[in-house]
Order: sequence, then C-alpha cells, then structure tokens
Amino acid sequence: MPPALRIRGLTKRYEDGFLALADLDLDVGAGRFVGLLGPNGAGKTSLISAVCNIIRVTSGEIAIFGEPHHSLAARRMVGLAEQDVNLDRFLDVEETLLYHGGYFGMRRAHARTRAGEMMDVFDLRAKAGVRAPKLSGGMRRRLLLARALMHEPRLVILDEPTAGVDFELRVELWAYIRRLHDSGTTVLLTTHYLEEADELCEDIVLVRGGRVIGRDTAEGLRAAYGATSLADAYVRAMAGVPPR
Ligand SMILES: Nc1ncnc2c1ncn2[C@@H]1O[C@H](COP(=O)(O)OP(=O)(O)O)[C@@H](O)[C@H]1O
Ligand SMILES: [Mg+2]
Repeated sequence: MPPALRIRGLTKRYEDGFLALADLDLDVGAGRFVGLLGPNGAGKTSLISAVCNIIRVTSGEIAIFGEPHHSLAARRMVGLAEQDVNLDRFLDVEETLLYHGGYFGMRRAHARTRAGEMMDVFDLRAKAGVRAPKLSGGMRRRLLLARALMHEPRLVILDEPTAGVDFELRVELWAYIRRLHDSGTTVLLTTHYLEEADELCEDIVLVRGGRVIGRDTAEGLRAAYGATSLADAYVRAMAGVPPR
C-alpha cells in the first residue's frame, strides 16, 4: 500500500519572499500516528496547508495514498481540522456537517446518517440546531473535529486541536483521536503540548525553519538527546544540539 502521505522537495516561498518550507521530505505510512512538532513559525501550518491545497506550493510533490494531492481522489481522502476555529457563523451544528458532506459529494441520506453519528460521538446532538457563535469554546472544538471526520477521510490532519482547551476537554479529545486511530485512520497531529505528543504519537517529526531536523519515537528522541523527558529532548534539538 502506498504511504498515506509522501512529500518530496516541498518548498514554499510566500509572496513577500519569506521561505517557510525549504526542500522538505516527509513520509507518513498508512495507519500511522505521526506528530509534527516545532516552534511557532517552523512551517507546520504551511506544510498542512500545502497538503490540503489551501496554499499553492512553490515546488515539490505531494501524494496522498499515491494520488497527486490536488486530485479529487486525494482531496476526498483527507480531513483537516484547522488551527483557527473557522466555523460558518450562519450555520447550525447539523448544517455545518451536512454542508461539508455535500461539498465532498456525499448523498443526502448518507450525509444525514453520518451527521447524526458525528453528533452522537462528539456529544453535540442536543446542539444540532444551534449556530456556531452560540456554542461554547469546547463545543466549537468538537464540531471542528466532527466536520473534519464527516466524509470518512483515511488521513486526518489535526493542526493544534487542543490549543487553549481546558484539561477535561483535552483528555476527551485525546480519547476521540485515539479511537479514530485504533479504527485504522492515519493521523498527522501538530501540538505544542509535548506530553500530548508523547502520549499519542508513534512517531515524532521535529521541524524548524521549514526543515525536518529529526524523526524518531519519543523514546528514541529521549535517547538521542540524552534527555529524561520529551520536552528536554525537544529543547535540545531546537537549540541545535547534535543527537548522539
Ligand atoms: N501568507 C503568508 N505570507 C507570508 N508569510 C507567511 C504567510 N503565512 C505564514 N507565513 C510565515 O511562514 C512561517 C511559517 O508559518 P506557519 O506555517 O504558520 O508556522 P507554524 O504553523 O509552524 O507556526 C512564519 O514565519 C509565518 O510568519
Ligand atoms: Mg501553525
């Protein structure tokens, strides 16, 4: 089976000349759970935006389960929960899910059933008719995730899904994400919570200045940097300390 994500030579230079991604290679095997870690400005969101066709790449190739990332087939296989909570303020919870399903060509009846499932899984059924601005912060986060999963993507990309979320909801979101992965979905996650990456990810990719500077399991990174915690290993890697 081809990898869920295969990136070769990805370069992104923004219109103002800033080089956000510099000849980056990355593979994510089918069914894996990979964490993308790096400081603000490292290029994580640019990478994700390139994969999801939100920005145009300067050069490089991206394939999703073997399909070019801009093809319809590839787009349908990816679900994205963006860093910014970008819900349509005029749509209620159920409409948000149904519109998304429609966008991905789901049949009306199927979309209705699936939206119902998503509202049950994410505990949003009681809010089906409520518009986004009237939802609590936690509900908006859950809806963002439900929308990303609506069309049953095989690769789910979560860009800081737990940023600014309270402890209770974070633990809840972890449980959802873990179940998703257990059911066979490939997950690419960015987070600034190192304990979250340690807890969830099988593999951790370190990004700095638009480049991949390391990749290993949390255990492997601790060993490589002679660190007792992943946070410690991360700090050393980002400071440019060479691995052992
Ligand atoms: N539209 C844009 N135009 C110019 N520079 C941008 C744009 N979007 C992002 N950048 C810059 O690219 C770099 C990487 O940003 P981003 O991909 O958002 O990083 P991260 O998600 O790792 O914090 C940052 O320096 C950011 O300021
Ligand atoms: Mg970002």
